Formats: sequence, C-alpha cells, structure tokens
Amino acid sequence: LDYSIIPPSRFNAVIEHLRVNFPDEPLNASVGLCLHGIPCPLLEHHDLKTMQDGMSIMAVDKEKNKIAGVALNGTSKRGETEQSIEEMKTIENLEYRRIFGLLNDVNLELDLFSKYNVDKIFEVRILSVDSSYRGKGIAKELFAQSEAMARKNAFKVMKTDATSLFTQKVAESQGFWVEKSVNYHDYKDEQGKKIYDTRPPHLHYKVMAKLIE
Ligand code: ACO
Repeated sequence: LDYSIIPPSRFNAVIEHLRVNFPDEPLNASVGLCLHGIPCPLLEHHDLKTMQDGMSIMAVDKEKNKIAGVALNGTSKRGETEQSIEEMKTIENLEYRRIFGLLNDVNLELDLFSKYNVDKIFEVRILSVDSSYRGKGIAKELFAQSEAMARKNAFKVMKTDATSLFTQKVAESQGFWVEKSVNYHDYKDEQGKKIYDTRPPHLHYKVMAKLIE
C-alpha cells in the first residue's frame, strides 16, 4: 500500500470510498444518517471541508489503484465548537444534529484548548478503511502517518472523537489517552428510548488526545 496526502484530484474518489464504507461507523449506524452507497450531502460537505485543510492521508492499493483507507484530518480552532453549536440550530436533519450535537456538547465541556493552552488542535476526524481491507493494521498506519503530518505542521495537541471501539484501540496503541468517555446507552429521548442504540462492542464514545511536543 502507498500512503500519501490526499490531493484535490482524489477528493471525489475519497467521497465514493466513504459512501460505501463509512456508514458502518457506530454512531451513524445507530441513527441512520448515511446509508451504504447513497450520497449523504451534510457529511460529505464536512468531509470535503476537512480535506481542503491539506493534511488528510490515503492508503492506496497500488496494484488495483483502489483506495484502501483514509484519515481525514483537519485543524480545530478555539471557538469553533461554540460556532458549530450555533450553526446546528439552522440544520433540520435530526440524525446529523444527534451525531454532531453529541460530539459538540462533549467537546465544549471538555475544552481541550484551555486544558492544554492552545488555539489550534490537529484533529483526526474521519477514519475509514474499506471493508475488504479491515483488520490488517491499515487504520494504525493511517494514524501514525497523521501524527507525522501533525508534527510537520507544528501542532502541539492531537485529538480524535473515537466513536468506534476499534478506533479507540488504534489510538491507544499510538499513545493517545482518554480525555472523556461517555456511554451511548445513557442518552434517552423523552419516551425513555435510547437515542444512540449502538451495537456491541461499540458502547462508548471517547475523546482521545496526545501531546506531540
Ligand atoms: N473485530 C474485532 N477487532 C477489530 C475489528 C473487528 N472487526 N476490526 C479491527 N479490530 C481491532 C484490531 O484487532 C486492532 O486492535 P488490536 O491493536 O488490539 O489488535 C484495532 O481494532 C485496529 O485494527 P486496524 O486493522 O488497524 O483497523 P482497520 O484497518 O480494520 O480499521 C476502522 C478500523 C477504521 C475503524 C474500520 O473498522 C472502519 O472503517 N470502520 C467503519 C468506519 C468507522 O467506524 N470509523 C471510525 C469512526 S471514529 C473516527 O472516524 C475518528
């Protein structure tokens, strides 16, 4: 496999890869925001904006010229979570609001910017490996390459919203620690029904971070 920065000429191919493979992500699967193979405009807008930061990595199977996996990495700036919470009020899509509402609330409370006294954080936002390439350590290598990218760009803090147990394992293996962990099944609607009925083994969402002096 060849690991490299995702150039703008491959943005569409990455979106195609995510359309097929990212709907397995536990939070998405529990609320049904994106379905396999079908365009998902709100999330794809978020993916494209992240790729435009120029720090995202792809693993390509050279023999087949096929994208095996991606890590979409972006810069998070102080104040953006508050801004995103405001923007969320104008978004009607309930599934999108449920996913990003949870991530925003947890991150707002955690406030890693104040904790580590930084104005920007390198964020591994979307980690996705093609289902036929999973379990071979590709996500681990994408994380390692992302860290090299964060170092190259002089970031001091790296974080990820690890919504999958597998991402949590990857991040832990790369020296990340848990900043905050929440149990999906604790969130209930007014009727007492689970909002995030995630399937085992994905029972927690963990914000994980690492300092990279
Ligand atoms: N069953 C049990 N364990 C698994 C499985 C599985 N199906 N898949 C991976 N793992 C474990 C591995 O054993 C490894 O743990 P270990 O170090 O203890 O051995 C760890 O998870 C990572 O394995 P990798 O092979 O590096 O991971 P992979 O290349 O398969 O990619 C990923 C993992 C990206 C989570 C993949 O399953 C995927 O694309 N899932 C759908 C999308 C998703 O959930 N993305 C992550 C959301 S969080 C975020 O985006 C920041």
